[in-house]
Amino acid sequence: MKAILLKRLFSAVEQGSSLDVKAVCKRIVEDEKRLGHTKLASDLEKSLNIAEKHKSLLKPHGPQTTPMGSLPSNKRDSAALIQVVERETLRHHMVLPSEVEQRFIRIEKEYAARSRLATFGLHARKRVLLYGPPGCGKSLGAERLAWATGLPLYKVRFDSLISSFFGETALNLGKVFEAAEKQPCALFLDECDTIARSRGDRNDVGEVSRVVNMLLQLLEDYRGDGLIIAATNHYDSLDKAIYRRFDETVELPKPGIVEIARLLKKTLSALQVEKNVDFDIFSTSVDGLSFSEVERIAQNAAKRSVMANRKKVNLTDLEAASNELKRHF
Ligand SMILES: Nc1ncnc2c1ncn2[C@@H]1O[C@H](COP(=O)(O)OP(=O)(O)OP(=O)(O)O)[C@@H](O)[C@H]1O
Ligand SMILES: [Mg+2]
Repeated sequence: MKAILLKRLFSAVEQGSSLDVKAVCKRIVEDEKRLGHTKLASDLEKSLNIAEKHKSLLKPHGPQTTPMGSLPSNKRDSAALIQVVERETLRHHMVLPSEVEQRFIRIEKEYAARSRLATFGLHARKRVLLYGPPGCGKSLGAERLAWATGLPLYKVRFDSLISSFFGETALNLGKVFEAAEKQPCALFLDECDTIARSRGDRNDVGEVSRVVNMLLQLLEDYRGDGLIIAATNHYDSLDKAIYRRFDETVELPKPGIVEIARLLKKTLSALQVEKNVDFDIFSTSVDGLSFSEVERIAQNAAKRSVMANRKKVNLTDLEAASNELKRHF
């Protein structure tokens, strides 16, 4: 088997992506067929098909998800207030500055040790606020926390939650927290500023205050066996009383040179790169971009090289991808 396929296979396993593992396995079967190893190819194909059949019988790790039917919905049009994210699709591999990585690890370890902490009257960090600029890992961080704790990820659907009818938004919020108390989950309030904006910021003060007060109360009263994760790009616009309701507030900043170089290498790890590419120097030239932009540069550079049928990604690929991105933003 080619080294490149082996690398891709191991990278998919490392990232826990069964979809990627399957894709690489199929590629291996095709390669073996092309090489004329028909018996081996057919044996491998059989194993893949059996694995596929068994997939539906395999139980996910960690707590089970609630059947969709028992999840809360709004009164107006019965739209679901929560979207359950399948464990299989959760991404968890992140590049982070070490102090941020340590904060994530601490939340994950405390969650695992929550019973032991409780015997000493201590509480694991359960209410987490993630904040920082766009494309720097807030949503990814929520997925990672769900993945690492084995909790199902429940994403709050603000489109169904927010209602123009007086009192209904607060009512819906209550239903969401009630569900999160019943079923251990990582409840994710993405872009929480939508409902946690400072009271008095808008004209509809009555309803805004009502929703913020409800959220404050629900956060304080939460006794579920899971996590509450909130994320925002607008840290300063949150109501001041919100901050102290969280046990952990993690800033996810833009990547520094070190993280940019690590992310570029990670994204290009399935391909070969010309020896003269100096990741540290190239990283300096894209300093100031977000993680998602850096990742996009690496992916576009990789595509440029593959489309040109070159074996190795070169500096021109990276520079072309970077210039193109900078032109568009
Ligand atoms: N720390 C990171 N390590 C590796 N990849 C990252 C990281 N942060 C972001 N990414 C990549 O960028 C993509 C976008 O990140 P994400 O959706 O988590 O950003 P966000 O902070 O939630 O942005 P927004 O404020 O726009 O919602 C991710 O899907 C991932 O591919
Ligand atoms: Mg996000």
